[in-house]
Amino acid sequence: MRTLAPFAVALSVALGVSALLVGRESGATPGDLSGDAVHGRALVQARCAACHGVDGNGGLSTVPRLAGQEIGYLYRQLRAFSDGARVSPVMAAIASSMSDRDMRDASAFLAGQERHGDAVASAALEEEGRALFLQGSADGRVPACAACHDASRGWFAGGMRGMRGMHGAGMPMMGMPVRNGPRLFGQRAAYVEQRLRGFSDGTPEAERMSAIAASMTLQQKRAVAAYIAAHP
Ligand code: HEC
Ligand code: HEC
Repeated sequence: MRTLAPFAVALSVALGVSALLVGRESGATPGDLSGDAVHGRALVQARCAACHGVDGNGGLSTVPRLAGQEIGYLYRQLRAFSDGARVSPVMAAIASSMSDRDMRDASAFLAGQERHGDAVASAALEEEGRALFLQGSADGRVPACAACHDASRGWFAGGMRGMRGMHGAGMPMMGMPVRNGPRLFGQRAAYVEQRLRGFSDGTPEAERMSAIAASMTLQQKRAVAAYIAAHP
């Protein structure tokens, strides 16, 4: 691949990606998902704030930030908790007591909140995580997280130079549909690390995420989690 022009590389990756994308839309997330954020706010304050905070930024390190997450992802996780596709004893009870309308409304409110981040824990760890997130590992085993996550940040504008291990990754280019992973930036480091250690739900995307997580060393998980947490 090294001898090919960057555009040819991009094209071949994109074509491979489009083949993978066909028919892989998982779950029952309607494309036009929306909800009543005013009702959502009341619901979150009454039933979620103790753990996730009134605006979804939470306080505990192992409770994920929900503020600013994509509405479709939030909704899909609530469905998955409630039908057991994603296992969490805490969230199972809460999600199964919510109506479909409640799930949409809470998701709509949370998606519209501003996400905070955490202070940089260690500059060296963060730098290691940044390289992994944007470029993947030097040995090619771990793909760049940026291939699927937080694409709206605009790092594709500068091209994909240096990005490694893009097999099956979704990219916003040439009008291609994007296989977007959820927003990670600003997520709590301890939660990211915990998720990477324990990917176990059975959706096709999570299977891919499981393979990626399995290819990472513990040090790489820590580093990327540190980088993510410090960049809301
Ligand atoms: C008792 C504490 C608690 C309460 C109350 C609670 N949650 Fe959670 N929530 C958690 C924990 C802990 C997790 C992480 C679960 C895991 O990954 O094992 C979580 C995960 C989630 C996730 C997945 C986020 C992601 O990034 O994947 C969503 C969505 C969510 N909660 C929504 C809600 C909503 C909406 C409410 C209120 C209706 C709520 N939660 C109430 C503790 C709580
Ligand atoms: C091929 C695309 C792809 C790549 C590359 C990728 N991810 Fe993911 N990731 C996903 C998708 C899709 C999901 C959502 C899975 C689901 O719906 O349950 C996800 C979910 C996650 C979650 C759970 C988020 C939450 O809020 O619970 C974490 C953490 C995560 N990825 C971290 C990473 C890290 C770190 C990297 C880089 C080392 C990475 N991912 C690379 C596609 C990808």
